Amino acid sequence: MGTLSLQGEGWGEGHALSRIAYVNGRYVPHRAACVHVEDRGYQFSDGVYEVCEVRAGRLVDERRHMDRLERSLKELRIAMPMPRNALGVVLRETVARNRVRDGILYLQITRGVARRDHAFPPPGTAPSIVVTAKGYDLDRLEQGAADGIAVISVPENRWPRVDIKSVSLLPNVLAKQAARDAGAKEAWFVDAAGRVTEGSSTNAWIVTRDGKLVTRQTDHAILRGITRTVLLDLLKDQGLRLEERPFSVEEAYAAREAFVTSASQIVMPVVQIDGRPVGNGAPGLLASALRRDFHKYAESA
Ligand code: PDD
Repeated sequence: MGTLSLQGEGWGEGHALSRIAYVNGRYVPHRAACVHVEDRGYQFSDGVYEVCEVRAGRLVDERRHMDRLERSLKELRIAMPMPRNALGVVLRETVARNRVRDGILYLQITRGVARRDHAFPPPGTAPSIVVTAKGYDLDRLEQGAADGIAVISVPENRWPRVDIKSVSLLPNVLAKQAARDAGAKEAWFVDAAGRVTEGSSTNAWIVTRDGKLVTRQTDHAILRGITRTVLLDLLKDQGLRLEERPFSVEEAYAAREAFVTSASQIVMPVVQIDGRPVGNGAPGLLASALRRDFHKYAESA
């Protein structure tokens, strides 16, 4: 392997040189990790995924992520490719082999490889499984949180079962790109009634002028974010006032604070919505405090 290819693989951004992926029972070099052209994930987006934070080499909230994974699979009638504890071993091994200290674990399961036909493949078709892990620069992430992010609003155009963590993410991809094109970091979907559902890859929150936290209730219109769930525990424990209900974009414009949550962003302050400053235009005190305390409430194993 020459110097050029080392640079091409991001040498210097962590351990890119020796990244390893788990693909259907084997640990393979990341650059050689492949799935079949007739994998139903590739052809139909017929699969589900999870993204789990890795902190100090440990998976954060693994149990909750596995619960949600099993639920997504069940809703789509895809079998668990292996028992849950065996999967846990694979996840940990992938983190270890990639020497990830702080970063992200990605897990994807599809309905497997079969001759192309929209209907389900023959019984016994093995689901495909891919696991990858990558480190990120914690200092950079913290700096991002200290700055806060801008979001834009976009019309909700996803299917009505986004509570299933499906890899079918085209509207999310387009929304995120619209945000990038507008110089923002995230896009908030707004339903036909003018209410924010969630972000393209995050849950959406506001803090009202009188200090109440508001986030949409978990129906089929949002993903039941694990970070969101952990935050609910934190809020309860700290006696903070919460309303689980839809909020409008106008309400968000007038909010004291806004923020988004996800496994990769944790609690990320929103400082601008559609070009208007939120509050005084700086990360909110509550969002910053929740971010600071989050890992005290998350499970780590
Ligand atoms: N995104 N809503 C959507 C549409 C998401 O894609 C995500 C997660 C969330 C937050 O869920 P959690 O707190 O469990 O991460 C909400 C992941 C991180 C992703 O697609 O990269």
